[in-house]
Amino acid sequence: MAPPKIVPSLLSADFTQLGLQVSECEYAGADWLHLDVMDGRFVPNITFGPMIVEAVRRATQIPLDVHLMIVEPERYVEDFIKAGADHVTVHVEASPHLHRTLQMIRELGAKAGIALNPHTPVVAIEEVLESADIVLVMTVNPGFGGQRLIEPTLGKMQQLADMASRRGLSLEVGADGGINRETAHRAASAGASYLVAGNAIFRDPTGIASALDSLRRAASGGA
Ligand code: DX5
Ligand code: ZN
Repeated sequence: MAPPKIVPSLLSADFTQLGLQVSECEYAGADWLHLDVMDGRFVPNITFGPMIVEAVRRATQIPLDVHLMIVEPERYVEDFIKAGADHVTVHVEASPHLHRTLQMIRELGAKAGIALNPHTPVVAIEEVLESADIVLVMTVNPGFGGQRLIEPTLGKMQQLADMASRRGLSLEVGADGGINRETAHRAASAGASYLVAGNAIFRDPTGIASALDSLRRAASGGA
């Protein structure tokens, strides 16, 4: 099994130094950057919109992985792709016409992702798996950084990896929330091909580069 990609979540970054922190992530070898868009409706918190995505785009070449925690995500998909998103992930719980939304994302030239809240079973997206490039398993309730991983969500990772291999699909399966040096290996062994981490990278006193490196080693089973 290939080691999982490590994907810093800018939600926990210091926004007074956003450009610098993005460069630090790039220098440290982050595989993608994760940007959490929240609208105060789908989730209780509000973060940022396409303007910040566009600013981050100018600061780095790393693929930008945009996680939309908003209602009616189809209304904003195009704006985020124009701002520079390489991946757009929408929540199945917010998308009554998920198949159409995924198609729209691909037609606009980005990779299409589906996110699952902790209570949402894998079967909810079985019929649209062929239209997705990415599935993001929420390992916490979306809305805030720094929460504890909800263990039973890890079971979905293996189900998705198995389902994708049975159908011959190359699917990225991510874990988002509560990923740190203690949990990274469990998520990776459960089948996650990428790990999103906010606090474990940006709030580590040893700094971004060393935190990213420790997380990468922990994910592969090292100390
Ligand atoms: C939570 C966000 C996550 C968040 C993870 O709603 O989707 O991406 O940044 O933060 P940590 O890694 O601190 O749990
Ligand atoms: Zn996220």
